[in-house]
Amino acid sequence: MLTRDDLDEDPLKQFDRWFQEALKKQVDFANAMTIATVDESGAPDARVLLLKEINSEGLVFFTNYESVKARQLGLNPHAAAVFWWPVLERQVRVRGGVSKISAAQSDAYFKTRPRGSQLGAWASKQSQVLQDRVELEATCLKLEQRYRGKEIPRPENWGGYCLKPNHFEFWQGRENRLHDRFEYDRNKSGDWEIRRLAP
Ligand SMILES: Cc1cc2nc3c(=O)[nH]c(=O)nc-3n(C[C@H](O)[C@H](O)[C@H](O)COP(=O)(O)O)c2cc1C
Repeated sequence: MLTRDDLDEDPLKQFDRWFQEALKKQVDFANAMTIATVDESGAPDARVLLLKEINSEGLVFFTNYESVKARQLGLNPHAAAVFWWPVLERQVRVRGGVSKISAAQSDAYFKTRPRGSQLGAWASKQSQVLQDRVELEATCLKLEQRYRGKEIPRPENWGGYCLKPNHFEFWQGRENRLHDRFEYDRNKSGDWEIRRLAP
């Protein structure tokens, strides 16, 4: 059950509250979100990405800046994200503008990654055609030798994006499909307005 009184006036705080509850319940991949973008013809495209940070600006994820999604975001810097936390019967939908985070923020996160993931970021030309897997593994091996005993710097084509929400929906499953849904929308003065929606 979800009522208006349960909701924080700030949807990012509300999101964080639900996210922490999903972590507590040990929802598998609670930070996995389906992110939809649109291609140059306006057709939607979607894939799963991991949420790595929630801050006062929005939701941060990391990826390759030359991937298909990055190209799409370059042309149309808007995205929609969906989370689904089954044991809690909760869905959250988020929409907003997307922009790259600073190089310094991406560097700081890259440093925390395991070495294997750091090498992977260098090795993979994400979303480009690979002739075979051997090509990828050979590149990884070469990189491993190049950086043996050395710190691995962040590739310039790898970093974070922040999805800055302008719309949220919190969905709580209820019996008989009479689910609770609340949306947050920004009004003309930029304040959040909360409305209950029919399920
Ligand atoms: C559970 C899961 C988590 C993933 N996390 C990421 C991620 O954080 N960053 C990323 O670039 N790709 C991630 N991927 C891979 C993406 O779904 C996708 O294959 C890749 O980013 C290429 O997408 P694109 O061709 O649309 O750019 C993840 C996939 C799964 C299934």
